[in-house]
Amino acid sequence: MSDQPSSPPAKRTGKRPAKPHRRPQKDPVRFLAFEALRAVDERDAYANLVLPPLLKKARAKGDFDERDAALATELVYGTLRRQGTYDAVVAACVDRPLREVDPPVLDVLALGAHQLLGTRIPTHAAVSASVELARVVLGEGRAKFVNAVLRKISKQDLDAWVEQVAPPYDDDAEAHLAVVHSHPRWIVSALWDALGGGRAGIEDLLEADNERPEVTLVARPGRSTADELLDAVGEDSGLPGRWSPYAVRLAEGGEPGAIAAVQEGRAGVQDEGSQLVAVALANAPVEGRDERWLDGCAGPGGKAAMLAGLAAGRGAALLASEKQPHRARLVERALAGNPGPYQVIAADGTRPPWLPGSFDRVLMDVPCSGLGALRRRPEARWRRRAEDLEGFAPLQRGLLREALSAVRVGGVVGYATCSPHLAETRVVVDDVLKGRGGHQPVEAEWIDARPLLPGVPALGDGPDVQLWPHLHGTDAMYLALLRRTA
Ligand SMILES: C[S@@+](CC[C@H](N)C(=O)[O-])C[C@H]1O[C@@H](n2cnc3c(N)ncnc32)[C@H](O)[C@@H]1O
Repeated sequence: MSDQPSSPPAKRTGKRPAKPHRRPQKDPVRFLAFEALRAVDERDAYANLVLPPLLKKARAKGDFDERDAALATELVYGTLRRQGTYDAVVAACVDRPLREVDPPVLDVLALGAHQLLGTRIPTHAAVSASVELARVVLGEGRAKFVNAVLRKISKQDLDAWVEQVAPPYDDDAEAHLAVVHSHPRWIVSALWDALGGGRAGIEDLLEADNERPEVTLVARPGRSTADELLDAVGEDSGLPGRWSPYAVRLAEGGEPGAIAAVQEGRAGVQDEGSQLVAVALANAPVEGRDERWLDGCAGPGGKAAMLAGLAAGRGAALLASEKQPHRARLVERALAGNPGPYQVIAADGTRPPWLPGSFDRVLMDVPCSGLGALRRRPEARWRRRAEDLEGFAPLQRGLLREALSAVRVGGVVGYATCSPHLAETRVVVDDVLKGRGGHQPVEAEWIDARPLLPGVPALGDGPDVQLWPHLHGTDAMYLALLRRTA
């Protein structure tokens, strides 16, 4: 870093000369991380969409290498994931409520707190880089404030801070876990209700949400195999899936886009939990004919591509339906090249164009809060509100009712969510079966889904299954399987 004075030399007055003004130095990594955090904060942008173009631009300018890109990504994702903890620490170091501190100042402080408490960056480097960033983006006055706060934060490590700022577990367990594991309290509460059990399990789950998930590939049935993918990525860069015979796990830094089968659409990126849902539905026993399958909420097409391949292997056809036309186009892209018959349509699953009783197997992978995929969207937990669930409730029930109407007697429906929240999972299925809310009860029986996920441990008492990041290494996917009885 060069010390270029930008102010004239002090006059010889006999007084101590003023410290020469040095122009602030723009560190491209911290500056980019700050820009990304501002976009997430100000424009409600998604970090995983904002970062790639910023990184591309920085690389094109030539002042960024791969290590810089990795550090910038870590700083953005780490700061967003741990924001709840860092906010509590920062709040303890400033003399006014955080809502009275300007958001850009809070972003610089959180970024600095992450470097100090969540990375191995040496303290002096973390403080000076953050103060320098503050000089560039906030100005001299506020850089002094940043300096003072970060120096306070640097006095102790994360464990000591957490001990100081989190309420004791015995006084308020949920509030304690919310600060320690950086989740909003209502999410801690909802996840704990769904998971059950004691302290160890919920702590493991919350920590798993703070880990970067592995990238998992799917070999689309009939078009590729896990062995082909493993050969393509090489022994050092890939591992077989834990549970799905179609899965390959990529080592850190593995580039899915570099694999021919992915480029050709014969394979894709898909969490193993989603793969298991599609496989379990495809293998659930139906009575009699097994020719017409429906995916009623198909966009962007991950499960539909698997179902289409599995259907093709049995001489069945898939209708993939999706309400949003632009997402229906993504489904078309995912299914192109499928070896068997399929059709993609844009249609509202609550007012479907198909006749009742038309299908032998139906998947309804309904829109939901996404609380099961917090590992993937670092900002999502801070955006979601408990009230959002009320918005999804009627749609989820309506889609499940239509799924049960679309299937013939003896056929099977899979109701899936990427959320473990009970209000989106078991409660929806129970309400629909029992006809709560002024509807007719539906004549359908539960199918035990657990034997359809062979080898997967810790699936609870059934008949539905809930996967968990800390137990299965997957997103927290939920699956209920139902057979129409009349
Ligand atoms: C959880 S996503 C489905 C993910 C998909 N099964 C996959 O594996 O790629 C839910 C989808 O339902 C769509 N959707 C929302 N409301 C719908 C409706 N009324 N009818 C049909 N699809 C709907 C959303 O646009 C979204 O694409």
